[in-house]
Amino acid sequence: MLDSLPPGPQGRWRPTLRIIREPRQALQEWAERYGDPFFVHALNGPVVITGRADLIQQVFAHDAADYDAFGKRALEPILGAGSMLMLSGEPHRRERKLVMPMFHGERMRAYAGIMQAAAERVMKSYADGAVLSTLDATTSISLEIIVRAIFGSEREQSAEQLLKLSRKVMSRSWPIFFFSPKLHISLLGLSPWDCLSSAKQELRKALQQEVRYREEHPEHRDDILSLLMEARYEDGTSIERDHLFHELGTFLFAGHETTAIALGWALYHLHSNQDCLARLEGELAQVEPDKPESFATLPYMKAVISETLRLHPIVTEVLRVLRSPMQLERWELPAGTAVAPAVVLAHYNPAVYPDPDRFLPERFLKRSYSSAEYLPFGGGHRRCAGAAFATYEMAVVLGTLLSNFSFELLESKPVKPVRRNITMGPASGIRLRLHAKSPG
Ligand code: HEM
Repeated sequence: MLDSLPPGPQGRWRPTLRIIREPRQALQEWAERYGDPFFVHALNGPVVITGRADLIQQVFAHDAADYDAFGKRALEPILGAGSMLMLSGEPHRRERKLVMPMFHGERMRAYAGIMQAAAERVMKSYADGAVLSTLDATTSISLEIIVRAIFGSEREQSAEQLLKLSRKVMSRSWPIFFFSPKLHISLLGLSPWDCLSSAKQELRKALQQEVRYREEHPEHRDDILSLLMEARYEDGTSIERDHLFHELGTFLFAGHETTAIALGWALYHLHSNQDCLARLEGELAQVEPDKPESFATLPYMKAVISETLRLHPIVTEVLRVLRSPMQLERWELPAGTAVAPAVVLAHYNPAVYPDPDRFLPERFLKRSYSSAEYLPFGGGHRRCAGAAFATYEMAVVLGTLLSNFSFELLESKPVKPVRRNITMGPASGIRLRLHAKSPG
C-alpha cells in the first residue's frame, strides 16, 4: 500500500515565508526532521521537495507529458501565454526545438564580441579608483548583452531604445507580482501594475517597429530576433507575432538578472579568496585579451563559474506540477501536486561536496558531477535554455574585467544570500573599488 504524501511542516503561511526568507536553512531543517522527500503546502500550491540524487534523477527523467508548468496564474499575465516558461506538453517540446539552436554551444562564438564590448562599455563609465556596486555594474552589462544578442547592433538607435525600454520594464517589475496574481491590480492607470503594463506596451510597440523593419529589409542577420523570425516549426510554420513578443520578453526576463547575480558572486568570492584570484589571473595571462572566445575554454575559469553556481544557486528549487499521479519511492503523489528537485539541498550535500560552505573551484577540476548532483540550471525537459549562453557570458565578462582592472573588496562582513524575487542574490550590492591595469 502506498502513502499519498510524505510528512512535512504544518500550515501554509509559515513554511511559505520561511522558503521565501531562508530557503536553504528551511529545506535542510525539514529534510532532517521529516526525511527526504518531504511535503510543504506552500501558498502557491502543494509541493513535494527532494534533494536526493536518485529521486532528482527520477523527476528529471519522468515523462514530460505528465508535467505542467508551475506558477502559471501569477506568471502568465507577466510573461504571456506564449512564453516557453508557461508552455507544457507538446507545445513546450515544439517550442524548445525551435528555440534551442539559437542557444547551442557552437553559436556562442557569434556572441563573444558583443559580450566583451558590453563589459568594456559599462566599465568605461567608472573613473579609476571609483567604488562600484558590483551588482549594478553586472546588471547593466548583462542587460546590454542580452538586448544586443537579441536585436543585434546594426541599428544603434533602435538597440539603444530597446535597451532603455527593457530597463524600464525591469525596474517596474515588482518581485511580488511573480508570486501572487491578486496584486495585479489596475487602478485608473496609476497602480504599480498599470505602470508595468504601460512600460510593457511601450516595449511592445518598439518591438513591432523592429520586426516591421526586418520584414521590409529581409537580409540574413544572426541575432536572436532574426533567427527566431526565420526559424520554422516541424510542420513548416513560423512563430506567430504575439508569441514572438512573449518569447523575447522571456529571454530578457530569464536571461539577465540571473547572470548578473552569478557574476557578482564570482567577483565577490574571487576577491575574498586571493589564491583563487591569482590562479585565475595566471590562467588569463596565457591568452590574448582581445580573443574573448578563448576565456570560455580555460579550465580554471570554468571551475570558478561552476563553483560560484554551486555555492549560490540563483534558483533554489525547480518545480513541475503533476498532471497524473506519480510514484516517488513509497509515496503516490496525486495529480495537482508539484515535485521539486531542491538545487540548494543537492549543492550542499557534504557527501558529494565536502566542506560545502567553502568556495573551492578545484573540486570541479578533480571530479565531475552528475546532472542530479549539480543542477544550477535545473534539468530534464525544462533545463535552462540559456545555460550555455550564461556560462559563456560569465567567462567572457570575468575575463574582460580581470584582464583590464584590479579590484579591492570593500565589504567588511561576509555577504549573505537573500531572496530578490524568484531568484536569490547577495544581500549587499558587493562594493568593490576598481583600478585600471596598465596595458602590457
Ligand atoms: C547564471 C544564469 C542562469 C541561471 C542560474 C538560470 C537558471 C535557470 C533555471 C534553474 C531554470 C529552470 C529549469 C528547470 O525548471 O529545470 C531556467 C529556465 C530557463 N532559462 Fe535560465 N538561467 C540563467 C540564464 C539564462 C539565460 C542567459 C537565458 C536566455 C538567454 C535563460 C533562459 C531560460 C529559459 C527560456 C528557461 C525556460 C526553459 C523551459 O521552461 O523550457 N536563462 N533557468
